[in-house]
Amino acid sequence: MKFERTQRFSLLLFALVVWLCYSRAPVSDASRGITPVSSKQPQERLLSSSSSASWRINDQTLDLLPKLDHDKNSKRSLILTDIGWNNPDQSYALRWFTRSIRTRELLQAFVRHPDFDATFVWSDMMTNASQVEIDPQKEYVVFMDIERTFESNADKKFGRVVKSKDNPCQRLPLGTCRDLVSGILDSPLFQLAKKSTLFLMDCSGGGLHPQYRHDFETSTQVSVLSVGSVAGQLQDKSDMGLPHAAVYPIYLSDGEEQDIRSCESDKTTTNSRPHFFTWIGDGRIGSPRGGLFTLRKDARDGEDVVIMHDNEYKKDLLSTYKGHVRKSLFVATPRGMDHSPYRFTEALSAGAIPVVHSDGWVLPFRKKVVDWSKCAVIIPEAKVDKTLQILRSISQQQRCRMRQHCYFEIYQKYMANATANLEGILESLRAI
Ligand SMILES: *[C@@H]1O[C@H](CO)[C@@H](O)[C@H](O)[C@H]1NC(C)=O
Ligand SMILES: *[C@@H]1O[C@H](CO)[C@@H](O)[C@H](O)[C@H]1NC(C)=O
Repeated sequence: MKFERTQRFSLLLFALVVWLCYSRAPVSDASRGITPVSSKQPQERLLSSSSSASWRINDQTLDLLPKLDHDKNSKRSLILTDIGWNNPDQSYALRWFTRSIRTRELLQAFVRHPDFDATFVWSDMMTNASQVEIDPQKEYVVFMDIERTFESNADKKFGRVVKSKDNPCQRLPLGTCRDLVSGILDSPLFQLAKKSTLFLMDCSGGGLHPQYRHDFETSTQVSVLSVGSVAGQLQDKSDMGLPHAAVYPIYLSDGEEQDIRSCESDKTTTNSRPHFFTWIGDGRIGSPRGGLFTLRKDARDGEDVVIMHDNEYKKDLLSTYKGHVRKSLFVATPRGMDHSPYRFTEALSAGAIPVVHSDGWVLPFRKKVVDWSKCAVIIPEAKVDKTLQILRSISQQQRCRMRQHCYFEIYQKYMANATANLEGILESLRAI
């Protein structure tokens, strides 16, 4: 009897500890709340609402309804394979293939794109190419996701990463995964239409396996899109970086946007953006974040520098974080466990200039489309202690031009959502 009560007490204590740990919710990358996309059966709805029986997109998590008007004469067609999540056997696909929320968002934007052709049936093309019309002059853009991990708060229904030989691209997309890719490149589509590109999305955030692009998959008809890769992991000519989505995007008011246009908030006489520099986050061993906390001592009198550890705001951390970021001219977006910081996109959404300490990180898109030197301040990790000096050397006019470029030329056009990201990817593809 007594023993039982002790047991029950331990259980209660354990529950309390668990509750305390999880209810603190710091702004750590792992605990950032992403709204899961619910699984629907859009294909059925699509087929019942459309007279055409030839639509065949197997992936049940993509909502196809808004996109029914593909122009067959367009110079470009976006298509999906039936490998992985788009496998005709959906129980197989959902069981063995994992996908991050990020990939799903991008695929959703992909199927909504005006050039997406849902009538192109990949398996028909593979089994008997004469059933499918292939225009050798056309630019076919094929998207495939190779997933290795996904956000910890993803829709649990789709399961965590499953270790299995049936999931060839999981974790290390080498060996068997290479066969899969060569199968696509040997297909009638890629053989006939030479301008075709296979986009391989790697949204895991950990960066591509260093050997993949050098030893296993060297074709330039393949373009790897990778969220957290560093130079050397990708092929300069054909691959590109991808941004994380902002988990906590900031939506500026018309007035705040006007301030960026007019440079009003860059003047020291107004204080609509009082903070010169802001860093809010936690320290991580081996990352440049530790150095950012030491910058406090470098702030000059009257220089508004906000440096704050997550722990300093146990309550209302999120509103504190967003509130400070939208009032900042420069925002630190250092790498954490992976090279691609979420804060980077968040700083841009707030109309601030991202200050990046993430050595080697391949920034999103191609330089001809997005020139980051006109917007971000990239500082070598070893010079983290010089950060404030470097930022002070940027004149008020230059700062204003950078903020205008960041917000209107980059964030609004290519970063604001998955549709904008896809625009950046497709424009980059043409900008070789
Ligand atoms: C391939 O498709 C064409 C057109 O639909 C058809 O005429 C032909 O018989 C098919 N060939 C095979 C081997 O199934
Ligand atoms: C994406 O962002 C752009 C730019 O802010 C906006 O014009 C567009 O409506 C957004 N699209 C979607 C699907 O939310």
